[in-house]
Amino acid sequence: MHNDSVDSSRIVIFAENLRYVYPDGTVGIDNASLFIEEGEKVALIGPNGCGKSTLLMLFAGLLRPTSGTLKIFGRNVSKENYEFFRKNTGILFQNPDDFLFNPTVLDELLYTPINMGMSYEEAMSLAIRYAKEFEIEHILEKQPFRLSGGEKKRVALACVLMLRPKLLLLDEPMNNIDGKTKRKIIDVLKTYENTLVVSTHETHYLDDIVNKVIVFSEEKKVLRIGGRELLQDEDTLLRAGVL
Ligand SMILES: Nc1ncnc2c1ncn2[C@@H]1O[C@H](COP(=O)(O)OP(=O)(O)OP(=O)(O)O)[C@@H](O)[C@H]1O
Ligand SMILES: [Mg+2]
Repeated sequence: MHNDSVDSSRIVIFAENLRYVYPDGTVGIDNASLFIEEGEKVALIGPNGCGKSTLLMLFAGLLRPTSGTLKIFGRNVSKENYEFFRKNTGILFQNPDDFLFNPTVLDELLYTPINMGMSYEEAMSLAIRYAKEFEIEHILEKQPFRLSGGEKKRVALACVLMLRPKLLLLDEPMNNIDGKTKRKIIDVLKTYENTLVVSTHETHYLDDIVNKVIVFSEEKKVLRIGGRELLQDEDTLLRAGVL
């Protein structure tokens, strides 16, 4: 892991021999050693079940490693750091149903920012901005669980961005959505200035967004780490289950 060209104060995520085993004994991620620097845009690719979602939940501070080292912004995942992680990391879950629980879409947008101390006025003005941006203005009074899959995803993404997280984690943002929404998401990712980690099975849209690609194997281990050129490497894409 040692690399002289890396400035350790800029490391946002540091993992060494990171392993997570679910309570039922299933290995979620077997052994991951990697680091992600401030401002990097990183793609996680690999076959179904290789541990991408597990890793993103670990990065969000929602799961505690079973063994190995994981530091996010230099901090361990612990109860004391829970608020810090909640404030500084934003995660879009693969299944937005895991996230949406408020009575209306507008409540959903306002809930966490206000909970984290943002004023009602500021939260409301951000909500209006993102509602416009993601074309969800007409559904602000609807119950989130009654939305279509693509609408849920747009709402969930707007919710995550409302917090302006320093670390944005997106789990399969392109699943189940139409072309227009995809283009919207790509626009957002292109202009996002902080650290971004995105898991995906669709890689073509990432060509001019990511600078680092981490490929996982079926064995739930890191197979390769490289630059965006890995997205053109057929052998790698085949092994990652992308082709
Ligand atoms: N809550 C859970 N309890 C037990 N095992 C789980 C749980 N969630 C995931 N797993 C297991 O952990 C492993 C990694 O799953 P994970 O969802 O992280 O993979 P993934 O790379 O995101 O897959 P996909 O491409 O299908 O989204 C799999 O073997 C999966 O069956
Ligand atoms: Mg997943």
